[in-house]
Parts: sequence; C-alpha cells; structure tokens
Amino acid sequence: MATLYCAVLIFSFVLTGAQQEEPCEAEKCPQYGPTEVEPVLTLLPVPWNCSQYVACDRGIQMFRPCPLGLHFNAVLMVCDYPDHANCVERCTSPT
Ligand SMILES: *[C@@H]1O[C@H](CO)[C@@H](O)[C@H](O)[C@H]1NC(C)=O
Repeated sequence: MATLYCAVLIFSFVLTGAQQEEPCEAEKCPQYGPTEVEPVLTLLPVPWNCSQYVACDRGIQMFRPCPLGLHFNAVLMVCDYPDHANCVERCTSPT
C-alpha cells in the first residue's frame, strides 16, 4: 500500500513537471451565432500567463493584460491579488 502511494506521488510529480514544458491552448470562447442572445461577457484564464486573461467578444478570443501586479482569478472572472487569484501557470505559450 505504501509502495503504491509512493508510486502515485512520483507519477503525479512527473506529470506536473512535464505539463509546465508543454505548450497549450487557452480555453475556447463560447460559440456565438446570429440567432443567439448576446451572452454575458466571458473572461477566461490564460494557462501560461497569470498576468493576462482572455476576453471573449462574440466568440472572438482577445488577450488582455491585467493591471500591473494582479493575477487573473478564473472563479470570479476578475484580475485579483495573486494571493486570492489561485492562478497556476501550467504550460507554455503555444506561439
Ligand atoms: C505576461 O503578460 C504580461 C502582461 O501582458 C506581460 O507583461 C508579461 O511579459 C507576460 N509574461 C510572459 C512570461 O509572457
């Protein structure tokens, strides 16, 4: 049992380490079509830079910077103090 626990720990460490090297895409903006009601402005995290966020304007992804020193809080959809934002940079930029 202890061996299994140890193996799981090492495995998740390896996974986490690998993810930071890998490029990844930001989450896609919700679909917006002519028949759809204008959605509430959606803000999404940028998984490789906590100082930025994605603003979705009618389905179009636009990268925006947070004010200096703030991190994006994905739960509240605001730029927040880094202590409160709980932002994790889990990968590198795809470009
Ligand atoms: C993250 O975004 C900020 C704001 O746009 C920018 O100043 C900073 O250079 C970026 N950091 C990285 C590692 O790209």
